[in-house]
Amino acid sequence: MAVLPFVVLRMLADGRFHSGEAIARSAGMSRGSVWLAVRELERAGVDIYKVRGRGYRLPQPVSVLERDAIMHHLGCAAPLFKLELTDSVDSTNTLLMRRASAGAAHGTVLVAEHQSGGRGRMGRVWHAGIGGGLMFSLLWRFEQGAGALAGLSLATGVALARAFEQLDVAGAALKWPNDVIWKGAKLAGILIEMQGDALGPSFAVIGVGVNVRLTESVRTQVGQPIADLETACGRTLDRNQVLARVLSALHGVVEVFSRAGFAPLREEWQRRHAHQDRIVTVGLPDGTVHRGIARGVAEDGALLVEAHRETRRYHAGEVSLRPSEPAMGGGNANSGD
Ligand code: BTN
Repeated sequence: MAVLPFVVLRMLADGRFHSGEAIARSAGMSRGSVWLAVRELERAGVDIYKVRGRGYRLPQPVSVLERDAIMHHLGCAAPLFKLELTDSVDSTNTLLMRRASAGAAHGTVLVAEHQSGGRGRMGRVWHAGIGGGLMFSLLWRFEQGAGALAGLSLATGVALARAFEQLDVAGAALKWPNDVIWKGAKLAGILIEMQGDALGPSFAVIGVGVNVRLTESVRTQVGQPIADLETACGRTLDRNQVLARVLSALHGVVEVFSRAGFAPLREEWQRRHAHQDRIVTVGLPDGTVHRGIARGVAEDGALLVEAHRETRRYHAGEVSLRPSEPAMGGGNANSGD
């Protein structure tokens, strides 16, 4: 997506009316370019009111991602990250994987207002509206080989749940292996990609997508129940603050993970497990479906499912999980096939 729509979005971010002429004047562009930028924002799912004689306005103020604000909210954690903001990218994960192979620094965070090809697990698409989601990737370098990072997705889930709790979200739960859900609907998703030698070193790009404020157009695109943080905590949120909270929590958890693996985080994960001791259905890549009772996770992050008095282990990447009780809902919202 081009630069101008984001210039216009920043001007409209206060939720007030701005005339096409005023926008054009302060952005140094023609009124025709303003009109085209507005159209492009609308095509990307942003609702914009147009009133003759008054101009353009967003339905409500939007918190635009700003480097200084994020650094301010990070406080003493700010030096731990190398923060890079971009308006639009195909996928923050794809770009950061490329940068990581070319030597990007440990702690690099790539945040985007918009992704044209946001990716979810198992080849799915990640849908998010401009101004209403949080999409970022964090590069973490490990001494261990990639094989030792199997529980990283679960550890990341623990970090997100902690951060959401600090934002007054009650009842955020974890769905194995990579979703944070609230009232059975997806609040956030995690996509971990890694590369490295079997014995190390290795690196992981931890991609996180959070629904902060959903629009109708995103809900329609996804077509499955999804939830947003603002509904879950009952107030308006500043995405800069949300990002800072999530990054700080993530740093703490991944530090623990890189020293001791998933084991020290396992109990907390299970405490927050949405499907603990419930009947679940596990879908394998060959189409086979297993049903059983979810009994939590192993220290390497494998899902434990009990059936016929036997406990089976499932590894992420191979399988998808669905609760068998209809009340649990959920699934892979934001990342429809
Ligand atoms: C899933 O739920 O299947 C994982 C979704 C992960 C989405 C995030 S958004 C930022 C980062 N870049 C991507 O392309 N995907 C992840």
